[in-house]
Amino acid sequence: MSLRNSCIIKAKKDLKMQYQIPKGLFDIVPYGVEEWKLSHIWKFVETIILKIARDYDFKEIRTPIFERTELFVRGVGESSDIVKKEMYTFLDKADRSMTLRPEGTASVLRAFIENNLNDKSPIHKLFYIGPMFRYDRPQAGRYRQFHQFGIEVLGNLTFENDVEVIDMLLELCKRLGLKNLSLYINSIGDLASREAYKKALKDFLKPHFLNLSKDSQDRYEKNPLRILDSKEECDREILKDAPSILEFLNSDAKADFNDVCNYLKALKIPFEINDRLVRGLDYYSHTVFEVVSGKLGAQNTISGGGRYDFLLKSLGGPDLAGTGFAIGLERIIQTMLTQNIPIPDNSNPFILLIPMTEEAKKLAFTLTTELRHNEIPSEIYLNIKKIQRGLQVANDLKVSFSVLIGEDELKSQKVIIKDMQNRTQESINLNNCINHLKKLWEQHG
Ligand code: HAM
Repeated sequence: MSLRNSCIIKAKKDLKMQYQIPKGLFDIVPYGVEEWKLSHIWKFVETIILKIARDYDFKEIRTPIFERTELFVRGVGESSDIVKKEMYTFLDKADRSMTLRPEGTASVLRAFIENNLNDKSPIHKLFYIGPMFRYDRPQAGRYRQFHQFGIEVLGNLTFENDVEVIDMLLELCKRLGLKNLSLYINSIGDLASREAYKKALKDFLKPHFLNLSKDSQDRYEKNPLRILDSKEECDREILKDAPSILEFLNSDAKADFNDVCNYLKALKIPFEINDRLVRGLDYYSHTVFEVVSGKLGAQNTISGGGRYDFLLKSLGGPDLAGTGFAIGLERIIQTMLTQNIPIPDNSNPFILLIPMTEEAKKLAFTLTTELRHNEIPSEIYLNIKKIQRGLQVANDLKVSFSVLIGEDELKSQKVIIKDMQNRTQESINLNNCINHLKKLWEQHG
């Protein structure tokens, strides 16, 4: 290869590299990619989410995708992995530290306080859908920009609110068609119970300290509860005999957790108590839960949430409790696809107009416009050549009906309407064409 050629290739490569999407991010596009990145699948999932939010009376809240860094440090917790290792933090032009939101709860609470929502209602049920950002090692099911649907209930809460939130999460999974999921729940009690447990856990782990994984050793002083979450074999072996947090709950916390469990049983929601479940964010108290799918590999938690009684106050708001969950859209979609759940594609046009002469094109164009003005999804194939090619396009677009207009149709002032599924066709008077297509749309659209 000549030097010149290799320089051109290298320059092209560099150019390509320069404009490649950063690692751990992905585009959602209409075709030509792995199935889970197809936009109609995302739309389908979002439609189900919006419907369930309405059924459970949640109102939408949209917060900015970046906030002052302190909000997340205070909200998510200084000792959490998210704050310690995973935040996308940058200085703005005035040297203020900003962070792309790694989760939604802290921002929702900040917005709740700042917009005085508390004055407007005794209980607040808010939901959000949007991108979150965490700098972690990308792998299947784990991305640096990912999307969550989340809900937060704020007010003077009782255990019924926790049950409502869990029920909504499982109903969502059911509506999405997801199978083989497990719900794990636990209580991490109030502050006093947790402090007593932390001490007992540290006492238990002390003689094993040198055999713990490096990560767990690092967590021992600052965040010993997170050691319970460790996936490392050496830690798991040691943890087998660790004390259970449930034994450290005071009587109120115990009663609250029993009530949640009994209500779940009454609603016939299957669950398993996992006394090692502590969650990775520091704001929780009392009931915490996760929904896990057997088939997602390492990143198999599709959703997590729980009660947080002190977060709102600690961010400068009123002394109200909160409970909620967030579910990852990537993980929902990937689970649906591995479980072969049929996902309809409603993004295709209903009708394709296929003109076969220049003259017919004008008429077809007018008809297409009229159909669109009547809110009937329509497309026109402008590259008039052969009818076969037009029908091929209609098949590719998966339209329900094609409208064929050629020289003969222009002369007789008729159009041919072809049912793409039954392969039948009929000739319809031009002046009745729009009405006829409207009827078809009402019947089949
Ligand atoms: P979380 O457990 O950190 O909770 O995240 C919830 C869900 O977001 C996870 O179960 C997972 O589906 C998805 N997720 C998290 N990180 C990634 C990632 N890097 N890539 C893909 N998906 C991911 C929270 O965020 C809490 N704010 C939930 C909550 C709301 N608790 C109370 N209210």
